[in-house]
Amino acid sequence: MNLDIERPGAPTPPSPANALLMQFTTAYWTSRCLHVVAEFGVADALDNGARSTEALADATGTQPHALYRVLRLLASVGIFELKDGSWHHTEASRLLRSDHPGSLRDYIRMLGLPAFWDAFGDLDHSLRTGEPAFTKSHPEGVFGYLAGHPEESRIFNASMTSKSHGDIAAILPAYDFSQFAVVADIGGGRGHLLRAILKRSPMTLGILFDQPHVIADVVPEKDEKLSLVGGSFFADPIPEANAYLLMNIIHDWPDKECIKILSAIRNAMPQDARVLIIETVVPSTPEPHLSKELDIAMMALPGGMERTQEEYSTLASKCALRLVSAIATISPYSILEMAAA
Ligand SMILES: C[S@@+](CC[C@H](N)C(=O)[O-])C[C@H]1O[C@@H](n2cnc3c(N)ncnc32)[C@H](O)[C@@H]1O
Repeated sequence: MNLDIERPGAPTPPSPANALLMQFTTAYWTSRCLHVVAEFGVADALDNGARSTEALADATGTQPHALYRVLRLLASVGIFELKDGSWHHTEASRLLRSDHPGSLRDYIRMLGLPAFWDAFGDLDHSLRTGEPAFTKSHPEGVFGYLAGHPEESRIFNASMTSKSHGDIAAILPAYDFSQFAVVADIGGGRGHLLRAILKRSPMTLGILFDQPHVIADVVPEKDEKLSLVGGSFFADPIPEANAYLLMNIIHDWPDKECIKILSAIRNAMPQDARVLIIETVVPSTPEPHLSKELDIAMMALPGGMERTQEEYSTLASKCALRLVSAIATISPYSILEMAAA
């Protein structure tokens, strides 16, 4: 019996163009497995020993067959490993544990939260209307939504700390923060960047400024030289300092709001103070860069954008500031140093 299936023409292997499209149209299947595994705490349930699928499913309240298939896909890209019928950690899966010093669990959980995940499903809304996709289901916007959802807000704030481990390690050696007597972190979340700076600069005092419900969750550490200030950078007085950190803040907002934030800082700051914007800067060249991915997340979620160096310079000039230098770090983040114009 001839089992050859007749096909018109000679069979051809998929072209690189075909493989490229297939890879990117399905990439979210793997992302989504990562979200649910982080949400169910699978990595926490897998300690240093090996565990069977059944034991992991039992510990995480999941169905063994479904969990096995999700882990099999993740293991195919190096996240978890199946050996002799039991699951083991890999370097990457260990970063999904809550207790790892470089844990990314909260960041991955945040991107998998229904309100955040759904915004990417609604990305067409951004293209059609120019509005953040998030507002299709939540007209109050990301920060209004978080203010009304304490558990999601806790995960979001923890996610910012979680994702910052590597970025902070790159930022600290790139700039001499110890030259400032007082450093204010505006929208500093739980203060992960500011605390890391204060540890390296024992003579510097810190001011952590964020929304009142975010500041209320910050637990002061013993002997730290940190003042906690709750307020809105749109409505409340900005504290006086010698340097103002804004990490992942300006990219959250359209130009109009950025001008309000930077002008408020400009009005509060001493003449010789510095404004230090820490963001990814969009390169003018076409290669892949984190800034281009974050830019889409900013479009879908808070309605902000990543910017080019020229765009930061223009923004500064509209707020009586000038861009003094753009300092690259070994991470995709740069420090955009601004002074009074
Ligand atoms: C993307 S997070 C960045 C947190 C931190 N700077 C970092 O890089 O990890 C944005 C921060 O801006 C804060 N934020 C949003 N709206 C604010 C407002 N009106 N006034 C003060 N802070 C605000 C949020 O609470 C959040 O902590």
